[in-house]
Amino acid sequence: MRGRIRLRPATSGDYDAVIAVVDAWWGRPVSASLPRLFFDHFAATSLVAECDGELAGFLAGFFSPDHVDEAYIHFVGVRPGQRGSGLARGLYHRFIDGARLDGRTMIRAITSPGNTNSIAFHEAMGFEVGEPVRDYNGQGRDMVTFVLSVCGDPPPASR
Ligand SMILES: CC(C)(COP(=O)(O)OP(=O)(O)OC[C@H]1O[C@@H](n2cnc3c(N)ncnc32)[C@H](O)[C@@H]1OP(=O)(O)O)[C@@H](O)C(=O)NCCC(=O)NCCS
Repeated sequence: MRGRIRLRPATSGDYDAVIAVVDAWWGRPVSASLPRLFFDHFAATSLVAECDGELAGFLAGFFSPDHVDEAYIHFVGVRPGQRGSGLARGLYHRFIDGARLDGRTMIRAITSPGNTNSIAFHEAMGFEVGEPVRDYNGQGRDMVTFVLSVCGDPPPASR
């Protein structure tokens, strides 16, 4: 599937299509970490990418209510056949543009230490990658943190 890609804000109605594919896209069970609430309450800041009317990618993220200078990306996923073409970069840029307009200067995300693809992607996107934080999400659930400062220049374009 390599037609024209269209990015748009997510709607709550996108959840069923997204949750149906995430385990396959990640190659392991991750759907429990993406509850419906992300599409019921953070659709306006989340994004969907479509190609010829089919789901090609998505980003679930929000502007932090507690930290008014921060935005947080919870999940980004791209259909396997669409990877390597800059789609996730486009989703990040769209989200970051919106976050900057809202006055956000820090973009945060996390991943598990074993998700080397996510770590490589965030490095390529200019994020600072932290050391794994022990028991970050409870006992035995270490996490790697990512942070990108966007108060100055726009996020890096593709190299
Ligand atoms: C990680 C993922 C979202 C990347 O999507 P993508 O559309 O292929 O990424 P892009 O084509 O936009 O790549 C953007 C940059 O990241 C780099 N990158 C992406 N995946 C990479 C990988 N696996 N290894 C090394 N670099 C990678 C690209 O080289 C590119 O850098 P460049 O422009 O400097 O060349 C996709 O592989 C995916 O959906 N994986 C499964 C879900 C997942 O793990 N999500 C992240 C955690 S929530």
